[in-house]
Amino acid sequence: VPSKSKVVWEKFSNQNKFQRKRYHHGTFPDNFLWGVSSSAYQVEGGWNADGKGPSTWDTFSQKPGNILNNDNGDVACDSYNKFNEDLYMLRALRVKSYRFSLSWSRIFPNGNKTSVNNLGVDYYNRIINGLLAHNITPMVTLHHWDLPQALQDIGGWQNLNMIDIFNEFCDFCFDTFGDRVKFWMTFNQPHTIAWVGYGLGLMPPSIKKPGEAPYMIAHNLLKAHAKVYHTYDEKYKKLQGGLVSITLNADWIEPKDADVPREIAAADRALQFQLGWFAHPIFKNGDYPDAMKWQVGNKSELQGHENSRIPTFTAEEKAYIQGTADFFSINTYTSRVAHHTTMKILAAAWGLRRLLNWIKEEYGDPDIYISENGIATDTKTTVDDTDRFFFYKTYIDEALKAHNLDGVKLKGYTAWSLMDSFEWLSGYTVGFGLHHVDFKNPIRPRTPKRSALYYYQVIRDNGFPL
Ligand code: NOJ
Repeated sequence: VPSKSKVVWEKFSNQNKFQRKRYHHGTFPDNFLWGVSSSAYQVEGGWNADGKGPSTWDTFSQKPGNILNNDNGDVACDSYNKFNEDLYMLRALRVKSYRFSLSWSRIFPNGNKTSVNNLGVDYYNRIINGLLAHNITPMVTLHHWDLPQALQDIGGWQNLNMIDIFNEFCDFCFDTFGDRVKFWMTFNQPHTIAWVGYGLGLMPPSIKKPGEAPYMIAHNLLKAHAKVYHTYDEKYKKLQGGLVSITLNADWIEPKDADVPREIAAADRALQFQLGWFAHPIFKNGDYPDAMKWQVGNKSELQGHENSRIPTFTAEEKAYIQGTADFFSINTYTSRVAHHTTMKILAAAWGLRRLLNWIKEEYGDPDIYISENGIATDTKTTVDDTDRFFFYKTYIDEALKAHNLDGVKLKGYTAWSLMDSFEWLSGYTVGFGLHHVDFKNPIRPRTPKRSALYYYQVIRDNGFPL
């Protein structure tokens, strides 16, 4: 099967190391959406403030032993009380967009509409109105991992009722905020929810059944996403005119030896398992990629594995899922080398250009927003973050090449993250922020790092003019 990895690899095969690293000068279009990103559990704190219900992440990180240093998100950056400071930083950066997520259990403490918490709703209204007052476009993630604990207690994403329950929550958010919010993302990194939550079992709900559970969960997440997309399409699209998508994650996979066809196939297969798992049903034909069916699918559909681990969609479900995204939202951080089954981590900016080209080739040239991209550093280094400055310089330049030289329809770039925040299992030991946050200080002071000034300059120049 001719794979898109082959197409992309051949396109760049004559680039030697030096050519890969050469900077490109030019600018993005005037309406390019420069932004920064965060998520509710990672920054808000106020874990039980004003009627908020507990989420799975509250429960999980409050339990000793789960997070490095026994850190938790009880206070985090205290953004629940400090949105004005956050807004100040956003304005200073001159970003055009802010991607943040809604804490479901702040809005519906027990997960259902019956429990709506108006003070929680007010908080998000303050954020949205504050952003709009300064011409910053809100990009809202409906679910960034912090599931209401009450819903985990009824089985979480294993329970098929969750499809309707999630839809009820999203419907409420469209109804409440959709007059002002025009960019919606249903799930953040469903791959992580399925794989890290149910395969590796490292994140809540900490189920370690890599054989089948992740595939089942992914199946339900895809159905839930599609349902929400259709709700927006039928009830709100005409009135509100917004866009709905899902945020997927992938790192570029470089073949170890591109002269060997099976190495290219291995690289392509790795991308199918990462990105195609969700993107193929949504952006292509409503179904999982052939590479997955072959490897872990049903023998009757393709001559592959004899024990199918991936569930099958009915023809009706396929039609329902296909086409349920108005743009492509991608979180990406690094590149890896595929060599049959083992992978090595390799940080390389040029992989971003290749990944964007792969998405363009594989999914019919969609509008793409990079919804997260960034680098972690030790939180002991405060403002002098040379690594991060260099990371953004090289990665954004590769994004520019993809846009200007390869014709990738890249519409926006969102840095992860506005500030250091609760980095999940690593707690506060590492930070991705353009701003440093002092987590030992009760008032959580924020300080711009060198990279914040640099990002401001890139946004001001709209790229890298000569
Ligand atoms: C993925 C997640 O969406 C975000 O929550 C996390 O902090 C960053 N990437 C960095 O790991």
